[in-house]
Amino acid sequence: MNQKHTHHHSTGHHSTGHHGPDHHGADHHGADHQEHDAEAQAEMLDLDAEILADHIASITEWLPLKDGPRRIVDLGCGTGAGTFALLDRFPDAHVTAVDASTGHLQHLRAKACARGVEERVRTVQADLDDPAWPDLGSPDLVWASASMHHMADPERALRDVHGALAPGGLFAVVELAGFPRFLPENAPEDRPGLEERCHAVTDRFHAEHMPHRGADWGPMLTAAGFTVEGERTIAVHIEGSRSAAIGRYALLGLQRIRKAAAPELSPGDLAALDRLLETDGPRSILRRDDLAVRTERTVWAARRT
Ligand SMILES: C[S@@+](CC[C@H](N)C(=O)[O-])C[C@H]1O[C@@H](n2cnc3c(N)ncnc32)[C@H](O)[C@@H]1O
Repeated sequence: MNQKHTHHHSTGHHSTGHHGPDHHGADHHGADHQEHDAEAQAEMLDLDAEILADHIASITEWLPLKDGPRRIVDLGCGTGAGTFALLDRFPDAHVTAVDASTGHLQHLRAKACARGVEERVRTVQADLDDPAWPDLGSPDLVWASASMHHMADPERALRDVHGALAPGGLFAVVELAGFPRFLPENAPEDRPGLEERCHAVTDRFHAEHMPHRGADWGPMLTAAGFTVEGERTIAVHIEGSRSAAIGRYALLGLQRIRKAAAPELSPGDLAALDRLLETDGPRSILRRDDLAVRTERTVWAARRT
């Protein structure tokens, strides 16, 4: 157990990116808290990569690529879920991994060294909302997973990717309609349906502040000049009864949801959520043997013709 990760240390700084909510009342904005949030997000992204590895591999296999790409860019790479999946899949490729977070990039670089692939990875720190994008070379493949919906002006970002790609190059946009679900519908026993009620609150928040989350990227890619060659949705349902990784993933995920949902939950729901988030309590989510990860990913394969 690591007390550092309980919700008592939650902050107003949203951990899915820097356009997140910052309206959470009594929370603090100290540098320590932000750093803690960044670490929590990094751990969450690593768990995501570990738990969804097979699904990410099936997406990279599905991409319509005749020859293996050699120059790949991973936009909003986080801690490298896509970067390492692509390096594994395309042994001749080099990846330029771009993110706004220096912490995530350091983490990614350390992982690259541990895997012995540091020669094949270049990290670039950049805020992609900035109109002046860094020089990304002329990649054959650009990958953006769960990052495009963070862009302040996604249409412009798509045009910038189109301009950066080599002719004939491919842009793979991977997005998720919503945040994963972990609990059975009738859980927890004292407040059935709690998780869905939390999501109802955070979905409203996201609809207002992140309108492109869950968007249909096909028409936007076409408008940016791409030819959309394929779209595929993968349903993910992973039973987690004996997986420590899934327990931890569920704990971090619900901690994050709590930050956004707390002000609008009923006192009874909030108390039940806190009982789930107590890592050593009798109702702790870590003690449950009925957890699963239910989510989906949609990928669009768009060609610069
Ligand atoms: C949900 S994470 C996805 C990370 C990774 N692509 C993955 O699939 O695990 C979103 C990432 O986008 C990055 N990001 C958000 N807005 C950004 C911006 N304006 N410029 C660069 N990176 C950004 C965040 O720092 C974060 O690492």
